[in-house]
Amino acid sequence: MESKVRWGILGCGRIARKFAADLKHVANASLVAVGSRSRTTAEEFVKDFPAKHVHDSYEALVENPEVDIIYLASPHGLHHEHTLLCLQHKKAVLCEKAFAINSKQAKEMIDLAKKQKVFLMEALWTKFMPHYNITMQMVRDGKLGDIKSVLVNFGFIPQAPVPKRLYDPALGGGTLLDIGIYNVFITLSVLGRPDIIEASITPASTGVDEQCAVLFKYNNGTMAQLFSTFTSNLPTEAYINGDKGRIHLTSRFYEPSATIAFYPDRIDSKQIIPFEKAKGFGYEYEAIHAGECLRKGLTESPVMSFADTLLLMETMDRIRAVGGIRYEVDI
Ligand SMILES: NC(=O)c1ccc[n+]([C@@H]2O[C@H](COP(=O)([O-])OP(=O)(O)OC[C@H]3O[C@@H](n4cnc5c(N)ncnc54)[C@H](OP(=O)(O)O)[C@@H]3O)[C@@H](O)[C@H]2O)c1
Repeated sequence: MESKVRWGILGCGRIARKFAADLKHVANASLVAVGSRSRTTAEEFVKDFPAKHVHDSYEALVENPEVDIIYLASPHGLHHEHTLLCLQHKKAVLCEKAFAINSKQAKEMIDLAKKQKVFLMEALWTKFMPHYNITMQMVRDGKLGDIKSVLVNFGFIPQAPVPKRLYDPALGGGTLLDIGIYNVFITLSVLGRPDIIEASITPASTGVDEQCAVLFKYNNGTMAQLFSTFTSNLPTEAYINGDKGRIHLTSRFYEPSATIAFYPDRIDSKQIIPFEKAKGFGYEYEAIHAGECLRKGLTESPVMSFADTLLLMETMDRIRAVGGIRYEVDI
């Protein structure tokens, strides 16, 4: 590999812009190519985030020999198709969440990565953040005692013009795959695979879930309550509650703006736990890790492993089966 990890971006939408901005904070990484369905969009993109190669198709991007890894930033309904396209051309992939629509698609993507011996990782950016790692270490160290419950919510009212992908079933619309995934992720991180899942949704006119309420139950009596919505602006917080203490992740628990409020005892025992602040939006952490994996010749991340991605996808499959959320690609 060249001295720098050479990144390509597939799909020049909103999140691609944030990721490209954060790549500037990553040593030994450079944005060398972008691929869009439209030349105009790609050219607009590189005005703000310069790249040597501007491709007006995803096919041209994946054929570019100067690209080491592709950040896949299309809507999740297309992640399966676009990841397979990259892997067929032996391009490493950092695939945005949700990794796929269901675990069947996820397995096919992982199987092809293994067959091609090419790196593939889900861009679950929270898993690489300092505040997440500190929180999980405190849980593992027993600072909260035995965890008895997790309460987590994520909600916002989409601003006009409302992105089509949020409500379009063909693009994987609905709250669960878009934002509820973070609720599932943090709960699985703390409690692991639930024994029982209960779920109920409010469908949007397109059929996707506009609100999604989920209950996880564990055989030891532990419970988790997860709620996601596109109908209200919620605090988007997580509470991890143990029999000794609790942690309240405030102000968008899934991103670097969060604060860790630790209560070792009663309500007035609050301590704010400090952590390193991100240089950018917070995407730099996953990009640094993916680059390190490539340099080491790894084809699977030891941090966000295939098993982690499959557990996340399988749990969302279970929620959807109970809650009644179906996509065309489901069998
Ligand atoms: N990690 C995070 O914090 C975070 C935040 C937001 C979103 N995301 C994830 O990132 C992905 C993209 O989200 P986004 O908000 O960036 O979406 P977006 O603004 O709609 O951008 C998606 C891009 O995908 C490309 N695309 C290809 N086929 C498309 C189609 N049929 N319809 C629409 N777009 C198509 C388009 O790029 P071209 O026109 O250039 O081809 C489009 O600009 C989603 O999976 C989402 O869950 C992650």
